[in-house]
Amino acid sequence: MNVMVVGGGGREHALIKSLKKSPRVDKLYALPGNDGMEEAITVGIGAKDLDGIVKFALENKIDYAVVAPDDPLVLGLVDRLNEVGIACFGPNKKAAIIEGSKAFSKELMKKYGIPTAEYRIFSDRDEAVSYLDGKSFPIVVKADGLALGKGVIIANTKKEAVAAVDSMMKDLVFGDSGKNVVIEEFLTGPEVSVLAFTDGKTIKPMVSSMDHKRAKDGDEGLNTGGMGAVAPNPYYTEEIAKECMDTIFIPTVRAMEKEDRTFKGCLYFGLMLTPKGPKVIEYNCRFGDPETQVVLPLLETDLLEAMLSTTNGTLDKTEIRFGKGAACCVIVASGGYPESYGKGYEINCPVKDGVYFAGVKKDGDKLLTNGGRVLGVTATAPTLKEAIDSAYKKVAAVSFKDAYYRKDIGKRAMQIKER
Ligand code: AMP
Ligand code: GLY
Repeated sequence: MNVMVVGGGGREHALIKSLKKSPRVDKLYALPGNDGMEEAITVGIGAKDLDGIVKFALENKIDYAVVAPDDPLVLGLVDRLNEVGIACFGPNKKAAIIEGSKAFSKELMKKYGIPTAEYRIFSDRDEAVSYLDGKSFPIVVKADGLALGKGVIIANTKKEAVAAVDSMMKDLVFGDSGKNVVIEEFLTGPEVSVLAFTDGKTIKPMVSSMDHKRAKDGDEGLNTGGMGAVAPNPYYTEEIAKECMDTIFIPTVRAMEKEDRTFKGCLYFGLMLTPKGPKVIEYNCRFGDPETQVVLPLLETDLLEAMLSTTNGTLDKTEIRFGKGAACCVIVASGGYPESYGKGYEINCPVKDGVYFAGVKKDGDKLLTNGGRVLGVTATAPTLKEAIDSAYKKVAAVSFKDAYYRKDIGKRAMQIKER
């Protein structure tokens, strides 16, 4: 089969490395991909250029399209490709709204009794501000729509909350995404990411993982696209997994089907294990980044077969198996990220195995930095401790000017193991 992966970051590189192992894959394209992806043919068409992608797919006889990022999913790329007869991995536009609108996902959870933080939705700035009177803080203010993972503000005081509402609703810093806001209760507890394959009826969760969203060690600093991840997440016990299956995963799939928004693809559950049980912090309609870079290296069965089964409705008959070991991914970023940073520095990366490129660009034979998150290095091992040690050993061999990485990826996960 000729397969194309839409997207260009570390997650997409992990998908490509995994798909490359499938005996059924003939040609493998990445749109736009990046210059570090040696396993695929990269094509300079952006992930939001729906017309360009459809035209390319037809001209190059693509049999299967894997749409990885949120934007093209929410814009309806899957619908567009399906209209011209190309099968896809990923939800259609109607189902992708589960990530595309937080107001939608909160109302869905309320209607179907799926545990989540208490909330209110506002389309009027003054109403949102009056609601904040007499509330306890911290409180969480979220832009309704997509905001590159930055549309969530944890406000410690009323003043901060009003500023957050104003930045979203008056100054429109996230554009139309902030026209409506969700204000919700602040929850506490360890966070767990669970990615799951679903064909709309059956749901099969992958190995659990833990993202590290903050820029600095000790979970300090600004939120980023993710500075590292480990899998499995030791807070997510078998007992909790069972509870999540019964109270969150199956109810979500059934709810989407009932709403005539059957979800097919990878459904991402961002969970918080609160003292009152697991609750949904967010849904994503796709694989997570950098969770994918720790989950897929542990997948023992064929990724393409798993994906095809979500499209064809045969997930119940498809074996999806993960290894017993652990994985750790450390993201190496440009110094200054997520704020301003330099670009164009030569990368010295002698390791290949488990390296997932993101913000890179070729100049002749040289690979140069070209983004905030430059690359990720994953190691797998029988235990989490060994995986962490091995990932950091590999990272030590990578260098470029102003390279920055967190030194404590997996530390919080190890703390519970040692308790
Ligand atoms: P999101 O983009 O919805 O994943 O939110 C980004 C991060 O904000 C999450 O990973 C949490 O750490 C935090 N967050 C979101 N909602 C809440 C909440 N209700 N209570 C506490 N923290 C939250
Ligand atoms: N790792 C969080 C996300 O992909 O949204």
